[in-house]
Amino acid sequence: MAPNDTVTASNGAPINENASLTVGEDGPTLIQDFNLIDKLAHFDRERIPERVVHAKAAGAHGYYEVTHDISHITCAKFLTGIGKRTPCFARISTVGGESGSADTARDPRGFAVKFYTEEGNCDWVMNNTPVFFIRDAIKFPDFIHTQKRDPRTNLKDPNIFWDFLSQNPESTHQVTILFSDRGTPASLRKMDAFYGHTLKMVNSDGKFKYVKFHCTSKQGKENFTIEEAVKIGGENPDYLTQDLFEHIEKGDYPEWTVSIQIMEPEDKDKMPFDIFDITKVWSKKNYPLHPIGRFVLNKNPDNYFCEVEQSAFSPSHLVPGLDVTPDKMLQGRLFSYPDTHRHRLGVNYQQLPINRPVAPVVNHQRAGHMAFDNPGGRPNYPDSTLEENPPKTLVQNNPTKSFTHVPEKVYGITGTYVKPIKEDIDFYQAGELWKVMSETDREHLVHNIAIHLGQCKEYIRTKQIGHFKRAHPDYGRRVEEEIAKELAK
Ligand code: HEM
Repeated sequence: MAPNDTVTASNGAPINENASLTVGEDGPTLIQDFNLIDKLAHFDRERIPERVVHAKAAGAHGYYEVTHDISHITCAKFLTGIGKRTPCFARISTVGGESGSADTARDPRGFAVKFYTEEGNCDWVMNNTPVFFIRDAIKFPDFIHTQKRDPRTNLKDPNIFWDFLSQNPESTHQVTILFSDRGTPASLRKMDAFYGHTLKMVNSDGKFKYVKFHCTSKQGKENFTIEEAVKIGGENPDYLTQDLFEHIEKGDYPEWTVSIQIMEPEDKDKMPFDIFDITKVWSKKNYPLHPIGRFVLNKNPDNYFCEVEQSAFSPSHLVPGLDVTPDKMLQGRLFSYPDTHRHRLGVNYQQLPINRPVAPVVNHQRAGHMAFDNPGGRPNYPDSTLEENPPKTLVQNNPTKSFTHVPEKVYGITGTYVKPIKEDIDFYQAGELWKVMSETDREHLVHNIAIHLGQCKEYIRTKQIGHFKRAHPDYGRRVEEEIAKELAK
């Protein structure tokens, strides 16, 4: 082995890195120069595909700590036993922009956390808003296309954005949050994160309850006004990334309190809306927040590419004690994330150091690109009679306590259903939000919308203003008046 103070080629052989192998001092270059070709070819492939969404991000390591025992609700080991700590890694992102885009853009912020638990990795792939724009996964690629660049001009176009939203008014609640100053957070440390979807928590008796996760920033909340966001974005597009990095570097570790809202399964059918509809929140009065833990981010990555870029989160990375629900958006996501990871990082993405579980991985998956762990010396199929002690499934090991899936009654007639938009249900929560906003927050919301929507064709503006009026007459009226002011300028 070459001593580690000697530069080597990728095969470990010592080389002279600063000169190509040539015929005479002035060339030509010889094709036998492995080092030159290895170096150029590797450089040519330095970029991997960026994430199709959430490409720009900051990341950090930390830990989760249980502060309240919830073993009566879940058997997930990392969530039970007060004081228990589990290492985690978080990636906090914008959604629509490319990997070099400004941190200060108006956008939801992604907040993904991977918990390296003894029972396998558990990922919470959250946003800083509790609701989403749409409620059927089939609309997600279309929705994202409206946030991306026009296929002809390669420019972002407010008409595309608002045309889609005005035709999908279930988005009104999320649009109201996004166009408030919460759409431009002043620090990644000073915003909350929400799982959004309803999940099931399953206890060791196999009984489940519906839950929603909330992560509340201990640093408080701080947002930019539209003017501040535009100015700072122009001066330092990496402002929020830098803020997170520098605070962690100087030992000022950001922290979030994790709480759950809990719903008994029998309440599901008593609710005025579908509890699996991610455009809705549960009232905190009826379903209060119960704190269960906290997580702290206390270490910056040593290597951005290996840790932040190669991290791969998925709502389908779950552990026993947490289970999915029939939420149509969540169901689509369960497929989409591992699928994009197989495309972006390869079929063995779970073997990369940042994604590798601390729990032993024992299965019969074999080979594929970049297989670091390719369990050899064992038959490559389950229950082999040729193996002395073949690994057993959870059911084989413990038939009465197998909670990777908990039975849930699902009924209905198959069909491609589009839920009709209902005044009282689909606009109500946006209207309630308008009502509890301070006068300053309302002014900023109306102003932020007017600047963007005001750039659209008149019929799109009129349609969208109609949705705001359905949420609350004053809300729609004030947007209409503010747009008129903007257009008169
Ligand atoms: C990233 C799909 C809805 C939060 C992504 C990625 C895809 C995707 C393909 C890129 C992942 C990668 O390349 O590593 C979808 C689909 C959705 C959906 C199909 C709806 C059907 C949501 C919702 C939330 C969310 C509702 C939050 C509640 C995130 C976050 C990331 C992400 C935080 C970034 C993960 C990271 O940091 O690597 N999504 N998404 N997404 N999504 Fe979604």
